[in-house]
Amino acid sequence: MEMKDSLKYISDANRPEEEVPTEEPQRQYYFIGRARRHLEEMSKKAGRPLTFCVTTFGCQMNARDSEKLVGILEQVGYVEESEEEKADFVIYNTCTVRENANQRVYGRLGQLGRAKKKNPYMMIGLCGCMMQEPHVVEKLKKSYRFVDLIFGTHNIYKFAELLCTRMESERTVIDIWKDTDKIVEDLPVERKYPFKSGVNIMFGCNNFCSYCIVPYVRGRERSRDPKAVIREIERLVSDGVVEVMLLGQNVNSYGKNLEEPMTFARLLKEVEQVEGLKRIRFMTSHPKDLSDELIEVMGHSEKICRHLHLPIQSGSTRILRKMNRQYTKEHYLELVEKIREAVPGISLTTDIIVGFPGETEEDFQETLDVVRKVRYDSAFTFLYSKRSGTPAAVMEDQVPEDAAKDRFGRLLDEVQKISAEACAVHKGSVQEVLVECRNEHDASLMTGRLSNNLLVHFPGDMSLTGRLVRVRLDECKGFYYIGSQV
Ligand code: SAH
Ligand code: SF4
Ligand code: F3S
Repeated sequence: MEMKDSLKYISDANRPEEEVPTEEPQRQYYFIGRARRHLEEMSKKAGRPLTFCVTTFGCQMNARDSEKLVGILEQVGYVEESEEEKADFVIYNTCTVRENANQRVYGRLGQLGRAKKKNPYMMIGLCGCMMQEPHVVEKLKKSYRFVDLIFGTHNIYKFAELLCTRMESERTVIDIWKDTDKIVEDLPVERKYPFKSGVNIMFGCNNFCSYCIVPYVRGRERSRDPKAVIREIERLVSDGVVEVMLLGQNVNSYGKNLEEPMTFARLLKEVEQVEGLKRIRFMTSHPKDLSDELIEVMGHSEKICRHLHLPIQSGSTRILRKMNRQYTKEHYLELVEKIREAVPGISLTTDIIVGFPGETEEDFQETLDVVRKVRYDSAFTFLYSKRSGTPAAVMEDQVPEDAAKDRFGRLLDEVQKISAEACAVHKGSVQEVLVECRNEHDASLMTGRLSNNLLVHFPGDMSLTGRLVRVRLDECKGFYYIGSQV
């Protein structure tokens, strides 16, 4: 069931002798080759190599998708340029989960349009979740006509083909699918970090939380074949990766729709067996599907990190029902107790929305109550943002902005106070750190991450990058540590 809105294929007049493969991913490898020849000609004309810059908005899924775009761009022959204004091909991989993300894209697009006037080789591509909203594409067609390429979340695997189509025509190429049941494996990927990687285990979401646009822009839930997941992780490990982050909007419902159904807990057990892999993370867990089996696996695992991100959204059962979250405050608190018992010292983090339609001061107090009871190591707090097309957007009693902002401020104070206290308990301990990069502000320090996801800065050099080292946590700085290698 693939649905296409629009795509005009440019016929292959230049190379009639060549057969265009119909199977994926071979078809995309063919288009990579064809785009490479076009790019070579363009570079010759320009008298220099042409460059690209991919800017990512939104979540880890988008970050992983961007790595796929970069993988293809590099095979086509583009050279990476970190400064957007200097690049010949700028791609925005967009997010639409909250309205402010959209506004940022329009703002920056205006600037890009001006840069494009000065650079005859410049192309602009837009993809990601925002492009799945018809009103966005309408606005782009009308007011941002300088954009060269627009595609969505379901056909990102076709990037090489779409790029090629644009290179062979003078018109904007727009290809958006409403949904797909297809998963294309084995396309090129260029990782941002050599030693850690995201791994998609599923796409889409079926939960339809009433405030959330994701199910509309990412489509129905599809799990990847466990064998393909394991094969990818084995390849990553043989390429130097020691930590993977398994990605899905609701990893706890992994495998339910596979031909041979399997649970997320069982997948984790299989991932654990991959030799050479040191750390396993995953995101995101929905409380309604978090099973006892998963808690048990986490309790016995050597590799699963001591961190669970478990979004609560609201502490009020009444609001949770209106959000269509399918759990109560009490159920959530029970889960937290079980997890803490099975994995002592585990770090818990969450997402909270403030100002959902109908939220009263009493509802908000319930949220504060959960925050005080669970004592999150950190929490992402969001002001409710109305997304058109979602059930919550047309609910009565939208909360006035000043009331929502006032609650947001009080929540943030509480969350920050507690997370500083929760962070401080590790002082003096020695823990394993995966070293990620040089510290941005102090070149004598390296930055790494604990199993519980806390950041630690400590004296060291670049040779440590990607290694697991033992570090004493000397000084707590609220939400990170200064440490020393032991
Ligand atoms: N699948 C994940 C969430 C993905 S979106 C889950 O269910 O936990 C990341 C976070 O954005 C959500 O957890 C929620 O807190 C927030 N969010 C989503 N839609 C929102 C909206 N309309 N307004 C404000 N925050 C929102
Ligand atoms: Fe959105 Fe809910 Fe799906 Fe998460 S589980 S992506 S919040 S609909
Ligand atoms: Fe945003 Fe799409 Fe992720 S809307 S949060 S980038 S799934």
